[in-house]
Amino acid sequence: MSSLASLTPLLAIETSCDDTACAILDAQGHILGESVLSQESHAALGGVVPEIAARAHLDILPEIVDLTLKRAGLTLDEIALFAATIGPGLIGGLIVGSSYAKGLAMAQNKPFMGINHIEGHILVPRLPNVLAEDIPSLNFPYLALLVSGGHCQCVSVEETGHYRLLGGTIDDAAGEAFDKVAKMLGLGWPGGPALEKLAREGNDMAFSLPRPLKGRDGCNFSFSGLKTAVARLIAPYGNGALPRQIAADIAASFQRAVADVMEDRAEHALLLAPTSTALVVAGGVAANHVLRERLKKVAQRHDIPFLAPPLRLCTDNAVMIGWAALERLAQGEYPDDSALAPRPRWPLAERQPYRPLPMENAQ
Ligand code: KG4
Ligand code: ZN
Repeated sequence: MSSLASLTPLLAIETSCDDTACAILDAQGHILGESVLSQESHAALGGVVPEIAARAHLDILPEIVDLTLKRAGLTLDEIALFAATIGPGLIGGLIVGSSYAKGLAMAQNKPFMGINHIEGHILVPRLPNVLAEDIPSLNFPYLALLVSGGHCQCVSVEETGHYRLLGGTIDDAAGEAFDKVAKMLGLGWPGGPALEKLAREGNDMAFSLPRPLKGRDGCNFSFSGLKTAVARLIAPYGNGALPRQIAADIAASFQRAVADVMEDRAEHALLLAPTSTALVVAGGVAANHVLRERLKKVAQRHDIPFLAPPLRLCTDNAVMIGWAALERLAQGEYPDDSALAPRPRWPLAERQPYRPLPMENAQ
């Protein structure tokens, strides 16, 4: 039977959006090497252009893999397993990253494992030594709130491979809403960090904005009404004529509305998953300080810890893909995904139960 030790060190690749990333992990989840390159060419275009992203992944991936091997002090033939994100995400990037990893696996005669990007985000807080020292380990079940530019969902993480989707967005993702509102305010892309900065100069009670779905049962999200309300506030001002103080007040009021909604949705999620041992936030929007403070309060009210991995592991990275592969291996999954095709849409709940190790079926 293949042991975890014989399947490590493993090399993981992430290319599902606009970050080209590679990481090498050992059997315990220690990071031996990691590299991420965030493609900057999209900023001038105001958002990720899928075709440009795919080509950029193709250009940069060989260098990123070499650099990561160098950082780990390893050569390709010392890698025991290759893993890559095969969904959900932009199809071009998924094809590039997974084909590259499959090619390396084939050339080295090693197995390939295809990983779900969301699974990576929600499992990575369990990586050893990433959380605060007073929280030695994160145990199941826990509540994961994933808020990024492409995703906004609330998942009860019950065990590796067993995820209960409690709710998700019915229109825009949280980060997408930040980006679109930032654009209306004349800020650059990605807009979240710039909007948070501007909001510090503003009065968050200046404008009354809607709180979509606040108070409703369940844990779905909606941001499009909020975005439209902001557009209406801005409309009377001509192009480029929005006074800075008004822009700051709008940014602060918008951020407060999003935080109110998030706090309420997290409360409802904990009603649906009352045995959660922790509240975990992941994704780029987790960088937002106002949001973090609100979620921390929710966790305190429920007497559970609030956890956010360091930002480099919150945003897209390959460490989370390698860690999800390790968690699946530890559960006895045999890595033989060379025939799996990339899936731009891939619900977390699919591909269960595990395919058992070949030896487990032997008589
Ligand atoms: O996880 P991520 O790096 O990439 C994916 O979307 O997968 O998340 C990027 C998103 C962008 O929409 C960005 O505007 C948002 O996270 N973001 C923030 C902040 N920092 C990044 N949103 C609000 N406040 C922030 N400080
Ligand atoms: Zn992501």
